[in-house]
Order: sequence, then structure tokens, then C-alpha cells
Amino acid sequence: MNITVIGTGYVGLVSGTCFADSGNNVTCVDINEEKVNQLNKGNIPIYEPGLETLFDRGQREGRLHFTTEIEGAVRQADIVFLCLPTPPGGDGQADLSAVMTVAGQLGGLLEDYTVIVNKSTVPVGTADRVRQAIAGQADEELFDVVSNPEFLREGAAVDDFMYPERVVVGTSSERAADIMTTLYEPFVRSGNPIIVMDERSSELTKYAANAMLATKITFMNEIANICERVGANVDNVRRGIGTDSRIGKRFLFAGIGYGGSCFPKDVQAIHYTAGQHGYDFKILDSVMKVNEAQKVSIVKKMEDYYGTDDFSGKQFGMWGLSFKPETDDIREAPALYIAEALVERGAKLLAYDPEAIGTFRQATSRQVLDQTTFVHSQQEALDDIDALVICTEWNEFRRPTVDNFANNMKQPVIFDGRNLYDLSRAEKAGITYISVGRPSVN
Ligand code: UGA
Repeated sequence: MNITVIGTGYVGLVSGTCFADSGNNVTCVDINEEKVNQLNKGNIPIYEPGLETLFDRGQREGRLHFTTEIEGAVRQADIVFLCLPTPPGGDGQADLSAVMTVAGQLGGLLEDYTVIVNKSTVPVGTADRVRQAIAGQADEELFDVVSNPEFLREGAAVDDFMYPERVVVGTSSERAADIMTTLYEPFVRSGNPIIVMDERSSELTKYAANAMLATKITFMNEIANICERVGANVDNVRRGIGTDSRIGKRFLFAGIGYGGSCFPKDVQAIHYTAGQHGYDFKILDSVMKVNEAQKVSIVKKMEDYYGTDDFSGKQFGMWGLSFKPETDDIREAPALYIAEALVERGAKLLAYDPEAIGTFRQATSRQVLDQTTFVHSQQEALDDIDALVICTEWNEFRRPTVDNFANNMKQPVIFDGRNLYDLSRAEKAGITYISVGRPSVN
């Protein structure tokens, strides 16, 4: 099939590359000329495990192309995917201007029947709006608009795309449903379902999935907060409830809050949509509030430990800046809030991350930059510090086992926002170890 992907951001690039790998002829369109030039030279602007191999193969074998010319790319397409940004606008409402601008151009370009697919996370009703925008300029027989939300995790996007647990297709057109099913069949050979439903349910499915996962994490964060107060251990509680298949083992890890570009934005957006329809989505109100507090809960623990909120004269090491491992994305990363809070209290920082130093530097405040030295190894971030603060569970942070900290640090004090280490090992190693929802080790 001839596929055109409009928008070469995270979702567009991964989708386009994976569709090319399953034998389709894919053209990716972007208005950013420099980005398109770089992509044509084989330079991928994002870090995503496994992407490079598929990308190189797609380009080498002539199935993956990049252009700024939307006209030709749309005319030759059987399916056009809209993978455009939908950032939070005012009030948490998703800003649809990119999607609607492109939708406005599409009508005039359609010659043969084309399926137009919204892959971006878009508010309920967007498929209808896109349809109306196109219908103003094109015969209704010439196209269908489909909702096909993505469920890709950053850091695991290629795997999630190639082996999806389900594919959701929202369309009331049989013709479009058939084409979408044919397109996705190679990805669900193991028998996972392609679930076809109406457009609005499909659009809501994406928000419901992210809101449910964000709620699940937040629920565990609150259980962790209670564990700390009653002297229980959230690891045990997690194992205890996760083995109940109705609850499930995954996404039950307590920590310093969820971040990233998806959960915070989508929770806000579905809360807003509910409000617009006269419904107060109370659980999500709480989820947002708890998550905000959770991001800096570790700073509160530091204040309690030092018995003051004045950290002047102290230097802290920070391990991990990205919102989660295997990505350089720092959007809504707890590390941003924690760094700000520590510097506000007078501390200096030594910060290390395997991938995200560049993105962090661009996103953080002048004040934090002035007080932070960025270092290039875990070890350097331990030099001459009063305590280490762990913000992201990069695998490499698990390796320098707790046993070594006592030898490597002036003060072996660790505030761990990701529960990386075993408590009994920490105890034996003679370190002070304060984590989330587990008894402190002193
Ligand atoms: C999330 C969803 O998992 C994807 O299915 C979805 O497609 C994507 O959003 C999106 O809407 O585009 P992502 O934001 O990349 O993917 O990252 P996750 O791995 O889901 O992690 C989100 C946040 O939850 C991270 O901050 C992570 O640290 C936190 N988390 C996750 C926990 O605190 N505890 C857990 O047990 C799991």
C-alpha cells in the first residue's frame, strides 16, 4: 500500500518506519525543511531503541521517503496518517490547530478514494471535525476519516508498534475498516485483536487507557504514602495485589509521580472534555493533584532528614533527568521539579543522565543552570556530595550495587525516588537509604 504520514514527530516517525518495514511504500511529510533534509541523510532526530535498524533498512530498500511536499504525497496515497502535535492549550484543552490546518489542505488534494487516519491523540469528536473540513472541498465518496490511536511507550515504541496487544480502529465505514485491517494484519499475526468500533469510542479509548494507567500509578503512590506512615512496605503490597489477575502486575510501581508528554497532557484533556460536557471527572482531579505533590515528595523527605528547608552549603548528586529510562525526553519529568525545589532551598547540584543532559539544560530555569554542574558519569555525580537523589530508574543505576556506595561517597546518604535497591542490602552496606513507600534504612 502507499502510505503517507504527515508529521515526523515521535509517533509519525515510528509509525512510518514500521509501516515501511512491513512492506508498504511510505512517504513522510513535514513542514520543517531542515528536519526533512536530515532524515533524508539518514539522521534520526529522536532516540528510540530499535528504530535506527528499521529506518536504515526502509531507506536502503527504497520504501521510506521524506519530503516537505504534501501535494504529491497525498495524491499518491491509499492511506494518509495525521501524526501531528496536539499540545495542551489553555485550560488543559488539546490544541488542534495543526490537525485542522492539515485537514483543511487535504480536501483539495484527493483524487482517488483515500483513508484519512487520525493517529494523534485527539479530543472526542475530532474525526467528525476533520471529516467536515475535508468535505467542504472533496466529494464524500472520495474519503473516510478513521480514528486509530497509538499506544506506543517512549523507549519501547518500536516493539509496541511491531507487536501491539491490540489495534483500535474507529470507523463506521466498512471499506475503510477493511483497508485498515489489511494494513495491520502483519502486526497481529500472534492473534492479538484489531478492534473496530465507532470513531468517538476509539478517540475516547486512547484517553481512557492513559487516564486509567495514570490513575493506577497514582493509586499506588498513595498506597506508598500510607505505607510510609504505617510502617508497611509498598513492594510487598504491590506483589500482594499484583498477583490478582484482575489487578495485574504492571504499572503498580510507586515512585515520584508519572511524567512525560502523554499522561499529564491526556489526563488534563479528558478532564477538560468531561467538564465541557457538564461532567466533573473527580477521580482525575485527585490524580492530578496527587501527582503534582508526589513529584516533590522526595524533597519533603530531605527536609525531614536534615530538619530544615535551608539547604545552603549542601551539594546533591542527581542521577537521572529524563521522565523515564531509555529516552532523552524530559517533558514533565520529576527531575525538573526536584532540581528547582532543591536549588530554591539553596543547594548546588551535580547532575548525570545517560541521554537527557542536553534536553534538561534546554528546559530548566536559569537559576537551576547556575547552580548545577552537569557531569558525564555516575561516579562524577557522587564526588563530594551530601546525598544522592535518584530520579530515573536507568538500568545502569542498578549496577553499582548499594554495597559500593559507602566506599564511593563522602556521606553515603541516598534518596531514591525509584526504589532501585533492596532494603536488606542497603542495611548491610551501612548506608542511609530513603525510598518511596518503604521503611527507611539508617
Ligand atoms: C504512555 C502509555 O504507556 C502509552 O501506551 C501511550 O501510547 C503513550 O503514553 C502516549 O499517549 O503516547 P509513555 O508516556 O511513553 O507512554 O510512558 P510510560 O512508560 O507509560 O510511563 C509514563 C510515566 O509513568 C513515567 O513517568 C513513568 O515513570 C511512570 N510510571 C510508569 C510509574 O511511575 N510507575 C509505573 O509502574 C509505571
